[in-house]
Amino acid sequence: MSKLSLRTHRCGDLRAQDQGSDVVLQGWVHRRRDHGGVIFVDLRDRYGITQVVFSPEISSQVHQMGESLRSEHVLAVAGKVSLRPEDMKNTQMSTGEIEVYAHEVEIFSTAKTPPFSIEEDIEVSENLRLTYRYLDLRRPRLQKSFFLRHQMNKSIRSYLERNDFTEVETPILCKSTPEGARDYLVPSRVHPGSFYALPQSPQLFKQMLMISGFDRYYQIARCFRDEDLRADRQPEFTQLDIEVSFPTPQLIQDLMEGLMACVWKEVLGVDLPRPFPRMSYDQAMSQYASDKPDMRWNVPLVRLNEVLDQTEFQVFRSVVDSGGEVRGFRLKGGNEISRSQVDQLVEKAKSFGAKGLVWVRKKDGVVNSSVAKFLQAHELEGIAQALSMEDGDLSLVIADRTHVTRSALSQLKHWTLEKFAIAPEKEWAFLWVENFPLLEQDPETGSWNSMHHPFTSPHTEDLEKVREKKNLGSIRAQAYDLVLNGFELGGGSIRIHDSELQKQCFDLLGLSMQQAQEKFGFFLEALQYGTPPHGGIAFGLDRMAMLLSGAKAIRDVIAFPKTQTAYDLVSKAPNEVDADQLLQLHLRLAKKS
Ligand code: AMO
Ligand code: AMP
Repeated sequence: MSKLSLRTHRCGDLRAQDQGSDVVLQGWVHRRRDHGGVIFVDLRDRYGITQVVFSPEISSQVHQMGESLRSEHVLAVAGKVSLRPEDMKNTQMSTGEIEVYAHEVEIFSTAKTPPFSIEEDIEVSENLRLTYRYLDLRRPRLQKSFFLRHQMNKSIRSYLERNDFTEVETPILCKSTPEGARDYLVPSRVHPGSFYALPQSPQLFKQMLMISGFDRYYQIARCFRDEDLRADRQPEFTQLDIEVSFPTPQLIQDLMEGLMACVWKEVLGVDLPRPFPRMSYDQAMSQYASDKPDMRWNVPLVRLNEVLDQTEFQVFRSVVDSGGEVRGFRLKGGNEISRSQVDQLVEKAKSFGAKGLVWVRKKDGVVNSSVAKFLQAHELEGIAQALSMEDGDLSLVIADRTHVTRSALSQLKHWTLEKFAIAPEKEWAFLWVENFPLLEQDPETGSWNSMHHPFTSPHTEDLEKVREKKNLGSIRAQAYDLVLNGFELGGGSIRIHDSELQKQCFDLLGLSMQQAQEKFGFFLEALQYGTPPHGGIAFGLDRMAMLLSGAKAIRDVIAFPKTQTAYDLVSKAPNEVDADQLLQLHLRLAKKS
């Protein structure tokens, strides 16, 4: 074994006090500079970069090898640590005080010229990066997100361990569990014509583990959903899946707040204030036009109908009379937004579907508005009061049919916050959204679907409506989402633990007894052997890692992500398979249309 085959230090380790030591470093050539005679190589590994000097005065053979080096070659060098001359010190680098004079070199492998250089900020197309993902992943900033993700997992495991959770693995080849998306199917060779589904989540398995008596379960589980992709969605993604026996929603929420506090403390050193705020689904939808409001800015859309119920201003009058809504939001200190900028806001509001936009300003104690001449003084005051306006504030108001008002105003709000770079009040805005409806109606077919999934328990007060199949839209679910900075981080519920109630809920969803038996017979059976009350939650770990690391998309925290068309550019999947493989799986392809 050559003395070069084991490193003594890593490329981020050496400091001034190591001066004079004989060391062995291994790594990649980050950069090579030839300074007429002396060659400098920045040697890089996961831990940092060290400057290595190839000088003909030390060894002409080593110097010659230095000349042959190119970017991304992998090598080992043995050398002596030396202090850099004062004017050559680099305070930007952790190893910037020293350099290593090489006296022996071994090149482990050479590298083709990479399709892009391994630098932080280079303009390269996303597709090229994903095709050579293993090279893109050499970039320190990208790597950092993965070390952080590792920390996150470690912290999650240790917290759950402390709280008596057991990690249990559940099948990947299974019968599908509906979570609202399409399934990925896997044909069976030994059961001709039959298919497994890849799990959209381990939902029914974790519930059966509660029936088995595991009491507290978790799994870092891979899930598969064939749905349209966005920046925060991938076809395969990772959930932290959790289930608890004998719970209340409060118990689960307390445990999960503890988990978040632990992760944020251990990964970022941040203390999260607890308890997290809670909001009902109805409030979220009316005041934020979203079931995942971004509470970093506390800017609700305030209803003004009541203040305006006697108004003679035609625009507001007709909307109030026809059952629509007048709503507005307040921008603290928004008076700095100029007249012409406000005109721009009017155009923006129209592009978001509003018919117009009213502004209200408060200055030196006086409330003014674009429509002041149509409003009574007490109406103006009332608007300002309802919006909690203070001196220097600007408010924007839209009147229309309810959904248009909410949607246009909410889009305008987000656009304005961004456009005028209005600083958020907090960095981390966790929020529980609760009391979701159990069911939502498909506007086209009129059929009712689960808002969360079919195993979610209705509120105990609403059980009457379930039994009598009435007012389906008003049945509330014992379901909760954890929202962070406008992203749905996780969602869960208290489950149905009674097989009769479970059957009734399948019935609400339009499943006949026979269909319910075919799809979920095994589960209805399991529920009949002594099922504890239970409930749980699942978090999107990719989303959590994205938010923790400040990444823009979950792709950046997934080592080998898929493209927007669910394609793996590295290995080129999915791909066609040969006829023989299809035959063994009893499959024949339909002609391509
Ligand atoms: P749900 O469907 O809400 O609940 O999923 C839980 C969390 O998983 C994340 N997530 C995704 N992340 C990336 N890409 C996707 N395509 C994707 N889809 C979902 C989200 C989401 O909040 N079985 C239930 C949980 C339960 O009831 O315990 C479930 O899967 O962050
Ligand atoms: P109009 O009567 O259309 O000239 O509008 C009078 C003022 O009310 C203008 O400033 C419009 O921008 C504003 N406006 C008109 N329609 C709406 C609406 N639906 N919501 C809010 N403001 C409106």
